[in-house]
Amino acid sequence: MLTAYDYPSAKILDECGVDIILVGDSCGMVVMGCPDTLSVTMDEMVHHTRMVSRGVKNSLLVADMPFLSYQISPQEALRNAGRFLAESGANAVKLEGSVDKFGESISAILRAGIPVMGHIGMTPQSVNQFGGFKVQGRGPESRARLREEARGLEDAGCFALVLECIPADLAAEITADVSIPTIGIGAGPSCDGQVLVLHDILGWGTTRFCKTFGDVRSLMQDACAGFVEEVKAGKFPTKEHEFK
Ligand code: KIV
Repeated sequence: MLTAYDYPSAKILDECGVDIILVGDSCGMVVMGCPDTLSVTMDEMVHHTRMVSRGVKNSLLVADMPFLSYQISPQEALRNAGRFLAESGANAVKLEGSVDKFGESISAILRAGIPVMGHIGMTPQSVNQFGGFKVQGRGPESRARLREEARGLEDAGCFALVLECIPADLAAEITADVSIPTIGIGAGPSCDGQVLVLHDILGWGTTRFCKTFGDVRSLMQDACAGFVEEVKAGKFPTKEHEFK
């Protein structure tokens, strides 16, 4: 699974055979320049998901439910989840947190025929409770709680589960505990799948410690600097770029 926030990126991911494309609320940090994901709105997420869906032919398209779109009531959660399918072409939604907190919202969304992906561990919408973007599941209590949460989300009907920033051995235990696929980010190699933020793997993001698979930042810097240089030097445009 990889994230995408616009049409051209989604088209490339889809053509590369990425199983799941996630329009993450990481959008706020990655393409909107926000310090966290908390200010991302439903309208912004629907807008980005609509762009992404135009580039997707084969991948499963999952839209991330932003902060306050599912926390207030099951009715609001269902209405917002429904918007992603009706207005932007998503196939499923993802939300952060446990059944203890949001079980009723998850049930309401599922009852309407909308598949739900769970997300536990370092869930960025709770960054203020965690006191920062910190690894979760380190002590015995926290480990037991996360294992419980994973089983709860499977029982509630989630079709897959993102495990974010937890120790690799805990992710392995959870993956063995549940029969739905786990998808890890900073959770070691034993998860059934892996997810990363697109701009991070491209070397165009801000996350430290993420493996980069390309250096898009340098390519863009070279291209933009080349354009500026050639225009200033009067080398571009030339006859071949003129319309007759
Ligand atoms: O918002 C996001 O991009 C995510 C993934 C990192 C799982 O939730």
